[in-house]
Amino acid sequence: MEGHLLLSFVAVVLAKVPGDQYAGDKVLRLKPNNEQQLQFIRDVAQTMKIDFWQPSSPELVTTNRTVDFRVPADWASSIQYRLQKIGLKYEVLIDNVKTLVEKQFDQVDRNTTRYNYEKYHEWTEIESWMSKITAEHPTLVSWFRIGRTYQHRSIYILRVGKKTGAVKPAIFMDCGIHAREWISPAFCQWFVKEAVESYGSNCTMTILLNNLDFLIVPVVNVDGYIYSWTTDRLWRKTRSRNPGSYCVGTDANRNFDAKWCSIGSSRNPCDETYCGSRAESEKEVRAVANAIRSYKAIKAYITIHSYSQMCLFPYSYTYSLPPNHKELNFIARNAVMALKDLHGTQYTYGPGAITIYPSAGGSDDWAYDFGIKYSFTFELRDTGRYGFLLPESQIKPTCEETMLAINYIATYVITHPH
Ligand code: ARG
Ligand code: ZN
Repeated sequence: MEGHLLLSFVAVVLAKVPGDQYAGDKVLRLKPNNEQQLQFIRDVAQTMKIDFWQPSSPELVTTNRTVDFRVPADWASSIQYRLQKIGLKYEVLIDNVKTLVEKQFDQVDRNTTRYNYEKYHEWTEIESWMSKITAEHPTLVSWFRIGRTYQHRSIYILRVGKKTGAVKPAIFMDCGIHAREWISPAFCQWFVKEAVESYGSNCTMTILLNNLDFLIVPVVNVDGYIYSWTTDRLWRKTRSRNPGSYCVGTDANRNFDAKWCSIGSSRNPCDETYCGSRAESEKEVRAVANAIRSYKAIKAYITIHSYSQMCLFPYSYTYSLPPNHKELNFIARNAVMALKDLHGTQYTYGPGAITIYPSAGGSDDWAYDFGIKYSFTFELRDTGRYGFLLPESQIKPTCEETMLAINYIATYVITHPH
């Protein structure tokens, strides 16, 4: 008995939080106003290990746009000093990244019997949740595997919609392409919950589920997601090995076959936006692309990321506008207005290249060029106060408001068939 107690005590003390490596790290926000300040950022990025949060890599930093980035503890004071010296004002968004990460892991409580949609969940929990919700709603939900990850885990899709026996038009929605964007899988789960719980009572949802199927991948990058729970809370990429390099992983949202690796992505396996060895080199990306290719009736593609509160549509790989630009812009504007109605949360919207940054190999552009004319990337909350470390208290409001945007798009799709 005593031995057991001692053992569990030791286990608790030894259990490391995947944020220890971030002790003293800071997240800074600044806006370079001229070429000199811009050059300073680029120089710093080259000499120190800086983690760009927004935009996603140093090449995308331009004058008069805000940059959020994490600086390792060792470098923080030297950078702050040099920023002051060149007169570049900055804001400390997060003073100690480790403290914030720890707070998130403290909040994790696993004692509830009902699935708690206002918590972040580990992969094993999400997996058993999928099996449970499928079993509980056999007339609305089916569960399939669409492929395996680099580490041989299953990648699942849930088909949510009233079963009619026929193939219905579908909306494909994926979450968790990037590992550290935890609000994204939380939203996919929330969406499924709302769908099954409000079918039959909520008029909009009933019409939607009667007329179409939602194909939902709650977590695409399962290996990365697990790694962000166990080892590195801020991991973004997949977990595949790169021959000839010690650096691990590819940016799954630079790995789709859409003008692959031509712009806004890196050929260096050590970079956060590494495009991979070739288009669809990642099994996770191939799984999503294959699922979309094989399902003939997909009318809309929606991919959920965070953060910056944006609704983006093609293109990101070019500044050119797609043929139905006006319609996409109209849909995005209305979706964003519907979202804002609930809690007043403001989103910006527009083509990816001009609204966030140019970058090739994204899933939205690929789906669009594949022929899915309604293709959107959502960047959920927040605008940088917590960034990827969005507290659990914001899961509910974030998901509630996002539901309104997705429902708007889905309704638009069924009322505009062709
Ligand atoms: N933050 C997202 C990313 O870096 C934006 C994706 C926008 N779409 C795109 N095709 N780049 O992946
Ligand atoms: Zn992302």
